[in-house]
Amino acid sequence: MDIHAQKILILDFGSQYTQLIARRVREAKVYSEIHPFNCGMDFIKAFNPKGIILSGGPSSVYDKGAPTVHKSIFDLDIPILGICYGMQLTAKLLGGKVEKSKKREYGGADLIIGNAGDLFFGLGMGGLKVWMSHGDKVEVLPPGFKTIARSANSDICAIKDDTRKIYGVQFHPEVVHTPKGGRILKNFVFRICGCEPAWTMKSFIETAISDIQAKAGADKVVCGISGGVDSAVAALLVHKAIGKNLTCIFVDNGVLRKGEADKVEATLKKSFHMNIRRIDASKRFLGKLKGIEDPEKKRKIIGGEFVRVFEEEAGKIKNVKFLAQGTLYPDVIESVSFKGPSATIKSHHNVGGLLKKMKLKLVEPLRELFKDEVRALGREMGMPDEIIDRQPFPGPGLAIRIIGEVNAKRCDILREADAIVLEEIKKAGLYKKMWQSFAVLLPIKTVGVMGDERTYENTVALRAVDSVDGMTADWVKLPYEVMESISRRVINEVRGVNRVVYDISSKPPSTIEWE
Ligand code: XMP
Repeated sequence: MDIHAQKILILDFGSQYTQLIARRVREAKVYSEIHPFNCGMDFIKAFNPKGIILSGGPSSVYDKGAPTVHKSIFDLDIPILGICYGMQLTAKLLGGKVEKSKKREYGGADLIIGNAGDLFFGLGMGGLKVWMSHGDKVEVLPPGFKTIARSANSDICAIKDDTRKIYGVQFHPEVVHTPKGGRILKNFVFRICGCEPAWTMKSFIETAISDIQAKAGADKVVCGISGGVDSAVAALLVHKAIGKNLTCIFVDNGVLRKGEADKVEATLKKSFHMNIRRIDASKRFLGKLKGIEDPEKKRKIIGGEFVRVFEEEAGKIKNVKFLAQGTLYPDVIESVSFKGPSATIKSHHNVGGLLKKMKLKLVEPLRELFKDEVRALGREMGMPDEIIDRQPFPGPGLAIRIIGEVNAKRCDILREADAIVLEEIKKAGLYKKMWQSFAVLLPIKTVGVMGDERTYENTVALRAVDSVDGMTADWVKLPYEVMESISRRVINEVRGVNRVVYDISSKPPSTIEWE
C-alpha cells in the first residue's frame, strides 16, 4: 500500500502546537504534512489530502493582516477540522460571528459533549478533560452549523456542519493536557476523512529503500556519521538500499567520549556490515585547538576542520555523486515556515560548500520524519538501544565541556570522569529518563587531602538536565546516593580530580553546556 496515498494536510497558522497535530495524526498511522496557511489553493488541490486541519495560532481573526485562507477551501468536498484559531477563522469566513475577548481562557476545562457521533465517538456524553488556550470565541454559528460540545465557560466549544463535513474545536486536542485528544483526531481521520492506517515504519522502510535506489542508481553516496541517532539511522537506511555503494565517514576529532568511536564503528560495521571509514584526526583537531580558550573560536575550529577532513576523505571516493544527511522533518518545516526560511543544512556539519565544490546532490531519507519516528525506524531496522536512546551530544564534543584550553591531558581527565557519570546514571536507571547528563572540567584547581598528602587538583562539575527540546531545561533532582557514588568514584578513580560539584542552574538563564 502506498504510504502517501492518503494524507492529511495541516495548515499552519503559527501555533506552537502545530507539530504536535502532525505527530498525533501520524501516531494514528496516517501520513500528515504541515504547510504554511498561505501555500495557496492550487497547492492544496494538487496535494489532494483526504482531510485538512487548520491549526491554532496567536492572532485574532480581527487583527490587521491576520492569517487566512481562501473561502473556496470549504467547497473542495474535503473534510476540515479547525482547531482554536482554525475554528474561529472557519466561523468568520462562513458567516458566523466571533467575539473578540480581552480575557484569555487558558488551562483545563470540562467539555460537555452534546453529540457523541463522529468526532466524539467512543468518548461518552460526560465531562471530557480538554485544554483551552484562546482569546476570541465563536458567538454566533455560521449557517448550516450546529454545536456539538460546550463547557461551563462557553456554549460553543465544538461545532460541525454535517453536509460539508466541516468541524471546529475551541480546545487543543493535540496536547497531552487533553488526554483523549488522540482519540478525537483519530475519529477525524478515520471516521470522517475515511483514511486507513497505512503509515507504518515497516512500509516506510520499503518505500524509502526504493526511493533511494531510484535516486542513486549505481552512483556512489557518502555520509558523515557522528554517533548520534539521526546520522546512524539515515546511513543504515541508505546502506539497506545500496549496500557498498555507500561510504560512511566517521571523523574522530579527539573530543569524543570514552570508547565512543569504537562503539559506533563496532555497531555499524560488525552488526550491519556497513562500509565505514574511521578517520583518526584527533591530533589535527587538538593541534588547532592549542591555546584556544574562547568557546566560539573552539566551535569554529572544530566545524571548519570537520568539513576539511570530510572533504579530503569524500574526495578519495571515485564517482561519488550524493551526500546523505539525517535532516529531520522539523528542520524542513522550519525552512518553509511563513515565519521565515532558515538554513536546512545543520550548521555544525556545514557542508554547503562541500556540496557545491564536489557537485554533490543531497539524499535526505529522514526528511519526512519526526525524531520519535526516526527512533521507531531505527528500532524496526534492528539498531541497538545504545544508539537509539543516546542522549544528545554536541558537535564540538568535549571541547565545550572543557572550560579553558583543550589539550590531550584535559580531554583524558574529562573522558574518564564523564564515563563514570554515565555509568552511574545508567546503573541507577536514570539515563533514558533525562535529556542529558555529563561532566564538565573546570579551569580551576583547589586544595584537597588524600591520605596524608595535600593535593592541588582539578574540579569537575556534574550536570544533569530535563528538557523537551533543549530550548529550556530544569536541573534534575538527582538522588543523593547517585551523586554520592559519582563523586566518590570520580575523585578516587580519576587522576587529577579532587573535587566534584553539582550544577543547580536551569535554562534560562543558564545554558545546558557550560562552554
Ligand atoms: P545550550 O548549551 O545552548 O544547549 O543550552 C542546548 C542543546 O544543544 C546542544 N548543543 C549542540 N548540539 N552542536 C550540536 O549538535 C552544537 O554545537 C551544540 N551546542 C549545544 C546541547 O548539548 C544541548 O542539548
